Amino acid sequence: MNGDRAPVLRASGLSRAYGRDESMVWAVDGVDLDVPAGQTLAVTGPSGCGKSTLLQLLGGLDRPSEGEVWLGGRRIDRLGERALARLRRRAVGFVFQSFHLMDELTAAENVELPALLAGATPRTARRRAAGLLDRVGLAERTRHRPSQLSGGQRQRVAIARALVNEPLVVFADEPTGNLDSAATNEVLRLFGELRSAGQTLVMVTHDERVAATADRVVSLRDGRTAGDDRPHERPDDRRSGLGALLNWEE
Ligand SMILES: Nc1ncnc2c1ncn2[C@@H]1O[C@H](COP(=O)(O)OP(=O)(O)OP(=O)(O)O)[C@@H](O)[C@H]1O
Ligand SMILES: [Mg+2]
Repeated sequence: MNGDRAPVLRASGLSRAYGRDESMVWAVDGVDLDVPAGQTLAVTGPSGCGKSTLLQLLGGLDRPSEGEVWLGGRRIDRLGERALARLRRRAVGFVFQSFHLMDELTAAENVELPALLAGATPRTARRRAAGLLDRVGLAERTRHRPSQLSGGQRQRVAIARALVNEPLVVFADEPTGNLDSAATNEVLRLFGELRSAGQTLVMVTHDERVAATADRVVSLRDGRTAGDDRPHERPDDRRSGLGALLNWEE
């Protein structure tokens, strides 16, 4: 690893086609992207321009048709299914517009689950979940089920869950898309805390307010990069994130 300037996430010539022959669509079409550790990156662009597809490729939820994805210095687009599943459990965290919590589990159990799947002991998983739910302001709601929580509270549980294995990168796809303005502010406040703590964060958003909080805004058009702006790049951007490198290959 070459100091802390190495990007934690890198895409090169990244492309994803759907369909075939006349109906083939290049949802992502030749994207090159380097994300330094600790950066907060917003991906914007019109509906259908490939934002969600790009996020899924970067996070190992989908495989590219062409090009490469590197995470924490390792190439991930050619990993076998088992290694990719391990990567998804240990090295990345996801936050979705519709939360994707397990309805049958309490808030605490939702957060514990990925820790248990990654091999933590029940005691460690409980301790981490309690700490994270406290951090997102839900210490009083740990035994509630998702149906007993507001949208903003559900999304805060989902954020706690995304953090439980100390991921290299947190990916969020329209994290505030289903939230009212008060809940959106709450999520933005949390993302601001993550940013201060040096967490690398890649989020897809239509919301100008959300994009305006990012260090960098990449806009897509028809699967290609159409803009790359750095409204708030910080001089200390490239700090320690890689220190948190987890050895998810073990
Ligand atoms: N599973 C699929 N099969 C076929 N085409 C798909 C599939 N998923 C996405 N596409 C196509 O790929 C393109 C990019 O889709 P994607 O969902 O990445 O867009 P998006 O920018 O996230 O849009 P939105 O803002 O509406 O969520 C679109 O033209 C879409 O129709
Ligand atoms: Mg989308």
